[in-house]
Amino acid sequence: MWLYLAVLVGLYYLLRWYRERQVVSNLQDKYVFITGCDSGFGNQLARQLDLRGLRVLAACQTEKGAEQLRDRTSDRLETVILDVTKTESIAAATQWVKEGTGDRGLWGLVNNAGVLMPSAPNEWLTKQDFMKILDVNLLGLIEVTLSLLPLVRKVRGRVVNVSSCLGRVSLLGGGYSISKYGVEAFSDSLRRELSYFGVKVAVIEPGYFKTGLTRNGRIAQGIQEAWDHASPEVKEIYGEKFPASLMKSTVRLEPSWCKNLSLVTDCMEHALTACHPRTYSAGWDAKLFYLPVSYMPSFLADAINNWNFPRPAKGL
Ligand SMILES: NC(=O)c1ccc[n+]([C@@H]2O[C@H](COP(=O)([O-])OP(=O)(O)OC[C@H]3O[C@@H](n4cnc5c(N)ncnc54)[C@H](OP(=O)(O)O)[C@@H]3O)[C@@H](O)[C@H]2O)c1
Repeated sequence: MWLYLAVLVGLYYLLRWYRERQVVSNLQDKYVFITGCDSGFGNQLARQLDLRGLRVLAACQTEKGAEQLRDRTSDRLETVILDVTKTESIAAATQWVKEGTGDRGLWGLVNNAGVLMPSAPNEWLTKQDFMKILDVNLLGLIEVTLSLLPLVRKVRGRVVNVSSCLGRVSLLGGGYSISKYGVEAFSDSLRRELSYFGVKVAVIEPGYFKTGLTRNGRIAQGIQEAWDHASPEVKEIYGEKFPASLMKSTVRLEPSWCKNLSLVTDCMEHALTACHPRTYSAGWDAKLFYLPVSYMPSFLADAINNWNFPRPAKGL
């Protein structure tokens, strides 16, 4: 019985390995639009796809970021300035893509731009704090997708949405996990709808990586800022020592965050170039911790979470 099971599992992985190796043809003719290319995953993916010969349309938030990227890539790569929270900026970038790609359409759209801060216990934050993140990570992603989708559908291309392991497990309050849960929900419905038109939708769920988003002390700084703005009542129930303990528990984890961004950009590249893209968990923490925790019963996931985080002073 165990032998049959082992053979079945082996066959499954063999078949999966074979499917995953199949690559789409004529990559050199394909245009890929990536948001958030100033730094981090977006920047590395732009350079990686450029090296592979694809036609990269890199959207940066700043002219400085765009210039630095152009300096490091071939003449094939083009840049545009895009703020995903601004409708007029998205409309201008869409027009630029339409003019640049002409009849050839857009093979790939990578929704990568994102922000993490402010992230802190929910009661420390305001509605505006939540909106800051949702505007970029969720509503920006949705608006960019709706705007560029006709060009992607034309060539039966790909949409690659960057979610997070925190799109499966919500550890800290604030808009980040909410935005990424939203990205997962949007991607699921989009994938089903677009399957009728030959467009494939893939989701990338990275664990923790060292990028601009998580740069040294950035998370601790965000926690401190949120605490500074919290109400006196909240400060009383959490106690003055709480923010320092919370910061310590995040800073303690920082050395374990992965520096090898290729673990994520290789998944993005696979989603754009393989015949059969899928959902990707990138990084060992995502695969071995966050993904399993997401399937656990809530009481167990809560216990694991609370074990890692400090207790409020007036907590029961
Ligand atoms: N690093 C991680 O551990 C991790 C884990 C899971 C998921 N992710 C996701 O991965 C994606 C990329 O993040 P990253 O880690 O590579 O961080 P990053 O280096 O900070 O990259 C994020 C990019 O998005 C850009 N951006 C921010 N707001 C924007 C806006 N309103 N319009 C257009 N672009 C904007 C940033 O531009 P500026 O540089 O000008 O701010 C930056 O280039 C994000 O969606 C993030 O949520 C990251």
